[in-house]
Amino acid sequence: MSFIPYVPGPARALLAVAVLAGVGLLFTLERPPVDVVQRGFRGLGMMQNYHPSTFAKTVEANQPIGPIGSPLAVGGPAGSVYKNVQVLKDLPVAEFTRLMASITTWVAPTQGCTYCHVDTNNLASDDLYTKKVARRMLQMVLDINKNYKTHVASSGPTGATGVTCYTCHRGNPVPANIWFTDVDSQAPVKTLGYRGGGRNRPSVAAGLTSLETDPYTPYFLGSDDIRVFPSTALPEGTQTASFKAAYWTYGVMINMSKALGVNCTYCHNTRQFSDWSQSTPQRATAWYGIRMVRHLNNDYLVPLTSTFPDTRLGPGGDGPKVNCATCHNGVYKPLFGANMVQYYPELTK
Ligand code: HEC
Ligand code: HEC
Ligand code: HEC
Ligand code: HEC
Repeated sequence: MSFIPYVPGPARALLAVAVLAGVGLLFTLERPPVDVVQRGFRGLGMMQNYHPSTFAKTVEANQPIGPIGSPLAVGGPAGSVYKNVQVLKDLPVAEFTRLMASITTWVAPTQGCTYCHVDTNNLASDDLYTKKVARRMLQMVLDINKNYKTHVASSGPTGATGVTCYTCHRGNPVPANIWFTDVDSQAPVKTLGYRGGGRNRPSVAAGLTSLETDPYTPYFLGSDDIRVFPSTALPEGTQTASFKAAYWTYGVMINMSKALGVNCTYCHNTRQFSDWSQSTPQRATAWYGIRMVRHLNNDYLVPLTSTFPDTRLGPGGDGPKVNCATCHNGVYKPLFGANMVQYYPELTK
């Protein structure tokens, strides 16, 4: 007599699936204990969960790098000393050189000066596309630090983090997190019902859900309303809430949460997502962030499309673009709020 009871065929298959799923889960679930940080009033469940070993890796991967020396007010203005300086005209030559050295460590540390300069004997030449892009990037960083304090210095002058090239580049010519328009998601609906366009594949951008595969284009390039809750009973006037808008909205919200390494309660009291009076101050910072990202894409990245070589373009021929993760890299404040730009005052004025 066997000790293993008789299991009929279909049940055996189910058992096998259950065992396999169990083994799978063993490797997927995080081992307790999990650290819980409360961020709202007690009883609201507004808390962030951190797994100590995963978090330690995130901390390690998001460290600032030290400045090269300190600002140098030596030499004449770069604009009159050099031949082709268009943005950093007023910077004293010594400081200009210090900034060039820093830019190199931020963007192209292994490639060096010649990543942007075709020849070290001809630094004035704009032959390389990388130099033209870098010039626009200088203007972009100045614009961010000057005009988007509501976002990049939202915690006030003392807590202000600000932005340098390193915020996005982290020692790489191409930042780790960029996006292109997903051509398939723009395609006409092929199947019956709601499921069509960008929703027949798992959405990497929306945390492998079956939401839109491209939550970026309507919100980070276009300025569609991020809305689920209708203000009127029927669609009318400027009221755009719809099933489709709900799919896109949840898609972009999951994407934003992942970009910051937080969950929904970092910004919302989930009993009423739409209500600002129950939201955290971080939600307002995020609101400005959405507007800033639209501006960076429409006024800097998109106009650079024809400057980039074809190899840098997406499948639909569009150029690389910025989202929250480009700066945040999975952390609620880029580099956990380390202020690198304080050592480069020229990038803030
Ligand atoms: C990531 C791109 C990039 C790297 C790397 C880089 N530069 Fe530059 N460089 C620029 C840009 C952009 C300008 C023009 C700035 C402007 O118009 O205000 C410039 C201009 C210059 C100029 C002025 C030349 C002239 O006559 O107009 C000098 C000198 C210079 N760089 C030196 C260097 C040195 C030395 C290095 C390496 C330590 C270096 N650069 C690395 C982007 C770069
Ligand atoms: C808000 C994020 C962000 C910041 C800040 C930023 N960049 Fe960029 N940068 C990008 C993106 C996105 C691209 C497009 C990536 C690509 O080239 O495929 C890019 C591309 C570049 C390229 C072209 C690289 C290549 O190989 O195609 C250069 C050079 C560059 N940036 C220099 C700079 C410099 C210099 C600064 C600081 C003055 C800077 N960037 C700041 C986001 C940023
Ligand atoms: C970093 C802050 C932040 C996080 C995290 C966040 N949201 Fe949002 N959420 C916002 C902002 C800001 C808006 C309003 C956007 C606008 O008006 O442009 C918004 C809007 C919404 C709306 C639309 C409300 C309406 O008026 O119709 C819903 C629904 C929503 N969020 C759900 C979520 C969910 C679900 C999560 C977690 C997966 C989440 N949010 C995570 C900041 C955040
Ligand atoms: C150009 C870089 C950049 C981009 C792009 C960016 N952020 Fe930020 N963000 C920052 C910086 C820098 C800070 C820190 C501000 C401070 O220290 O006060 C910050 C702070 C925040 C905060 C406040 C965190 C806190 O705990 O106080 C939220 C929320 C936030 N960002 C959300 C977003 C969202 C959502 C997006 C995309 C729609 C986004 N950010 C895109 C640079 C960026």
